[in-house]
Amino acid sequence: MERREFLAACASACTLRAGEAWPAATLEPRFYFRARLTDAGGAPLRASRLVAGRNYLFHYPYEATPCFLLNLGRPAGAPVELKTGDGSVYQWPGGVGPGRALVAYSAICAHRMTYPTRQISFISYRERSTSPASHRPNVIHCCSEHSEYDPATGARVVGGPAAQPLPAILLEYDAAGDGLTAVGTLGRELFNAFFEKFGFKLALDYGPGMRRRIAERTAVVELEAFCKQQVRC
Ligand code: FES
Repeated sequence: MERREFLAACASACTLRAGEAWPAATLEPRFYFRARLTDAGGAPLRASRLVAGRNYLFHYPYEATPCFLLNLGRPAGAPVELKTGDGSVYQWPGGVGPGRALVAYSAICAHRMTYPTRQISFISYRERSTSPASHRPNVIHCCSEHSEYDPATGARVVGGPAAQPLPAILLEYDAAGDGLTAVGTLGRELFNAFFEKFGFKLALDYGPGMRRRIAERTAVVELEAFCKQQVRC
């Protein structure tokens, strides 16, 4: 192709007709080290023993980045198309494990990054309404400014000021061993901003290895065992 024709073809491909919108960018999964989920004692976690509706917590992909693991008690098998705050799109693949009811998400609120600490947690999954401020059942609710996320549809925002879903943690289910392995994230990560904003406190709580990437295994504990106090707004 002549240079002049080539430039004309590029110009035509990069021009929108009236009423057309630029196609949204597609966000790809981000893969980290594979990490087998274990119980608090280090034994492989048995997925079928996770109690429906209970808040479980593990850390991934960094030592200091908490995530929720939930058994929704119902299938969450349908893929969902989601959009980040900057307009990128991605497709959440659905739940995994027995009944496709298991899901995992970053526990760092997508609004102002409230997260569960060892002292207190303002964010958790609730099967039932706990107050007029938290009237939707079956949502991850952040009591800071009441953002709500639906874990059955990729943690899309269903209430409050958050501008995007909680990033999903990608899990692989091993049916033969009833085990779970975290392999990556899907969605707009906030980890750099999180370390920047809370670095001082995270260093106190997690030590100098707070930004170390989790590898091989990560322990799952109940949120109640991890946090001294849970705020139920
Ligand atoms: S930090 Fe969670 S709603 Fe504002």
